[in-house]
Amino acid sequence: MELFGCKTVQEVLIQEEQVPEKYIHKVEDGGVPVPDASPPQLLDVPVIDLALLSASSITADEFEKLRSALDTLGCFQVINHGMSPEFLDEIREITKQFFARPVEDKKKYLRQGNDIQGYGNDVVHTEQQNLDWTDRLYLTVFPQGNRKLNFWPENPESFRRTLDQFAMELHVITKTVLKALTRSLGLEDNCFSDLYGEEGNMNIRFNFYPPCPRPDLVLGLKPHSDSSLITHVLQDKEVEGLQFLKGDEWFRAPIVPDALLINVGDQVEILSNGVFKSVVHKVVIHPDKERISVVALCYPESYKHIEPFERLVDESRPRLYRKMKNYRDIIMENYQKGRRAIEEAKIYV
Ligand code: OGA
Ligand code: NI
Repeated sequence: MELFGCKTVQEVLIQEEQVPEKYIHKVEDGGVPVPDASPPQLLDVPVIDLALLSASSITADEFEKLRSALDTLGCFQVINHGMSPEFLDEIREITKQFFARPVEDKKKYLRQGNDIQGYGNDVVHTEQQNLDWTDRLYLTVFPQGNRKLNFWPENPESFRRTLDQFAMELHVITKTVLKALTRSLGLEDNCFSDLYGEEGNMNIRFNFYPPCPRPDLVLGLKPHSDSSLITHVLQDKEVEGLQFLKGDEWFRAPIVPDALLINVGDQVEILSNGVFKSVVHKVVIHPDKERISVVALCYPESYKHIEPFERLVDESRPRLYRKMKNYRDIIMENYQKGRRAIEEAKIYV
């Protein structure tokens, strides 16, 4: 199928008087905000001290918090992660500055064809596809050999240096978190981190959600779960937007400015044979405030197969997922069609 890009939302806002049809979600698609409804409740997302998790003797308390966060919610927040509040603000600042540049300037970094790296918005797979109300810059940071520096902004001047440092900090955090996850499943320390690889496999996505006069019609991101092992989310400090599905109810993600929000992705759900849940989430749009977020998706090395760990398969918990490779390539098309990719991995008996 031919893939083609479309206008950025910033251009739509300048050029169009009404929200174009392609951005309008129908109620039956699910997840569309209901006009005048009271906003969903705030989700109580456990806050975990990363320094305690990385100690060789994890305290029983932190451990229990982690496990219960993951098998019920699929997300948690970490503090004491080694990045200062000032540094997190710097990341938010370079993101805002990049998206504030003139459209022509940003187009130097435009994603080409079906490459995933670069600036732009949704890859369009079908005519009927609903578009997300967001512009983004998507960059591979690890392995370093896959970096395409021609997509790394030169403005603001500190962008590349700051991103490089952010990626290195996240790399260390990722390894610590993956180890803690495997330990809390009663598995060997390095089961997940071996898949992620020594050099790591990480893509960083800078998201920009322009305001929309009709937030009841559009979504910043359709309901989805991430195709990653785990995802780090650095949220906007002031403007909310992220929501999580728990049971069949939506909840608002709390903003804890200095914390990093971590979601379990589909691949950890598969590897853990469904013990850990990959959380479904979406982003709603503010009527007059823009919102940014920076998301780091951590993957297994692309040539590695994933499947539920044998130790987590038994009579009481039969194997739920089949063996797969390159799972993230499957997800994009499914996402645009509004389906969860993990459905493709399920074994139906
Ligand atoms: C994502 C995502 C959340 C946000 O990019 O996959 O879920 O707050 N982002 O932008
Ligand atoms: Ni997501």
